[in-house]
Amino acid sequence: MKKMLLFLFVGFMLVSLSCTKKSTDTQNDDQKTEWPFEPPSDEPLDAFEMNAKIGRGLNLGNALEATKEGDWGMVIKDEYLKIIADAGFNSIRLPVTWSTRTAKTSPYTIDAKFFERVDHIVQTALGLGLTVILNNHHFDELNENPTANRQWLLKIWEQVAEHYKDYPDNLFFEILNEPHGAFNSNAPLWNEMAAEALRIIRKDNPWRMVVIGPIRWNSIHTLSTLELPQDDRGIIVTFHYYDPFQFTHQGASWVGEHSNQWLGTTWGGSPDERKEVSDAFDAAVQWAQEHNRPLFLGEFGAYEKADMNSRYRWTEFVARTAEKRNISWTYWEFGAGFGVYDRDKGEWRPLLLKALIPS
Ligand code: BGC
Repeated sequence: MKKMLLFLFVGFMLVSLSCTKKSTDTQNDDQKTEWPFEPPSDEPLDAFEMNAKIGRGLNLGNALEATKEGDWGMVIKDEYLKIIADAGFNSIRLPVTWSTRTAKTSPYTIDAKFFERVDHIVQTALGLGLTVILNNHHFDELNENPTANRQWLLKIWEQVAEHYKDYPDNLFFEILNEPHGAFNSNAPLWNEMAAEALRIIRKDNPWRMVVIGPIRWNSIHTLSTLELPQDDRGIIVTFHYYDPFQFTHQGASWVGEHSNQWLGTTWGGSPDERKEVSDAFDAAVQWAQEHNRPLFLGEFGAYEKADMNSRYRWTEFVARTAEKRNISWTYWEFGAGFGVYDRDKGEWRPLLLKALIPS
């Protein structure tokens, strides 16, 4: 009888063990299908190679900068990401105003629901093979008073960096869009704060690409003020290009009333007009070579109030000028006032698309 009981007991244990094993396997399988991405690299990456992955990209502007997505007319639909990937773009830059999604006091906790929304967009884009630059946009308080809001910036990056630390290498971080305001007269302060944020990011993301640009709204003309931590080679340097401003920003309400006086400004692509662009890019390349850093044109575009033929010529020329110099780019922007995509009609604006992705 004892033998019989022992036999039954061992039999029962074997069956239950195999069931447990099966359920663990299924669980692992589920996890695998839920998380299709490679873990981030455990060794240094080549920033020049990683920059090439940005290639040709689009800013998904006017969506997550608004206090509530949609308030500025733009909601990011999953299908847009597919449309972008199918058209041959390699990347998206995702402008996000984090500062309006945090608690107003330390530790400036980021709203969990908002993280879920960003996760969804980032994962959908990565799943389509797009490289994603996750940005920190419109942090007005920091630009107005950097010192008083230093902790706020650092806490944002502590949380964002921790949250995305297991994401694959083709998610990049950008510390701050267009530092301006008080930074404009104090480049060393910006350089120091960027380095501090970078140190925080590096705790959990030792090899992830981090994008940093200079003061004066990331102007191409202020690259020489940028000082980066020498030993960090996981940095991609960014600049923005909107020259001639009176052409690209004619009638742009956020610039001010006077921008209406620029209406009608054209860009014909004369030798002088082209030279202005290529000289500026050559100077940027010279700086980048001296500092051995890859360059990324994070924003360029001409507003919808300019005539389409001029917009086409300018966009085409700027994009090719960048490409010839191995400068990756993300056009400003997908579907709003500079939009290459007409969301009402559900179609690309053919000339702008052709300027960006020539067939
Ligand atoms: C700003 C946008 C603006 C664009 C062109 C971006 O950096 O965030 O609000 O439309 O530059 O001026």
